[in-house]
Amino acid sequence: MKILAIESSCDETAAAVVEDGRRVLSSVVASQVNEHRLYGGVVPEIASRRHAEAIVPVVRQALEQADVGLGELDAIGVTYAPGLIGALLVGVNFAKGLSLSTGLPLVPVHHLRSHIASNYISNPELKPPFLCLVVSGGHSHIVMVEDYTRMRIIGKTCDDAAGEAFDKAARSMGMPYPGGIALDKVAEDGDPHAFKLPRPTVHGSPYDFSFSGLKTAVINLLHNSAQKGEKLNRADVCASFRYAVVDCLVTNFVKAAEDLDCKRLVIAGGVSANSLLRRTLSEECAERGWEFYMPEKSLCGDNAAMVGAQAYFELIDGNVAHSDLNAYATMSIENPL
Ligand code: KG4
Ligand code: ZN
Repeated sequence: MKILAIESSCDETAAAVVEDGRRVLSSVVASQVNEHRLYGGVVPEIASRRHAEAIVPVVRQALEQADVGLGELDAIGVTYAPGLIGALLVGVNFAKGLSLSTGLPLVPVHHLRSHIASNYISNPELKPPFLCLVVSGGHSHIVMVEDYTRMRIIGKTCDDAAGEAFDKAARSMGMPYPGGIALDKVAEDGDPHAFKLPRPTVHGSPYDFSFSGLKTAVINLLHNSAQKGEKLNRADVCASFRYAVVDCLVTNFVKAAEDLDCKRLVIAGGVSANSLLRRTLSEECAERGWEFYMPEKSLCGDNAAMVGAQAYFELIDGNVAHSDLNAYATMSIENPL
């Protein structure tokens, strides 16, 4: 079954053709990040306009690269939530129009579910059930993936997402948006024990996260040293911060797995590209004899191949939308449309 997938939830316009949920025939991503970088973050109005300009050429390129005509497709999958509403609407409206003109079924795909599905592409043998740490710029969830389309939230952040914390800490050190990747690279040369940073926990919720205090702690550290005229070793600050964030993520994730007696762990989302997170969880799982899966780095960030993967399982489950499909800025991963 061949699915054309479309993604426009944030600042990447993407289209892909995916076969049977696991085989990528093409994947095209047009990033707007260089333009948003000028403003230190994504400007929603600019994002919507750029999506509108890019969507036709990006979809055309995806079909050409896959060497697949519209008549050979079985469905159209589209990200409809959560994300920037104006950005999502470009993809949703385009997909609705194409579905109407071709008669192909339209499959609504939840953005975080698609991040999880990137793992079905990178790990062909992976099947639910598993416990997944979904960490992106907007979300940090521990999700029990009971089946391809049945999920339960075990824990989540009560303030900033992990990616957001990385980006804000990086920004306070003068790194361009989105700073998470740059911070990760610089941290490789630093000492993670150079600075003592807090490991915030959420009282009474052992699987939930809180990153805003940690972000403030590193910003205070930088401000205090600047006021005293001291120059901190940037690699050491990056390494200490990265260690603190990864420590919080891994501690809660492993505890949840132990408590739920789940021995198959998976990571997903932009932050799953983080080198320390990948290394630490690989080691923790190997020590315990648990299975561990992660997406290849090129599939960690936003792309449409992962949307095509999840759309396949949603379609099999009978999840088809009609021409009244809307886009939503927020939507639970447990009970989407
Ligand atoms: O999933 P994603 O591409 O977009 C959202 O759905 O939000 O995630 C983007 C986030 C950004 O905050 C970015 O800085 C972060 O993922 N990120 C990283 C790394 N690569 C991307 N954070 C830490 N280390 C990385 N290597
Ligand atoms: Zn994402």
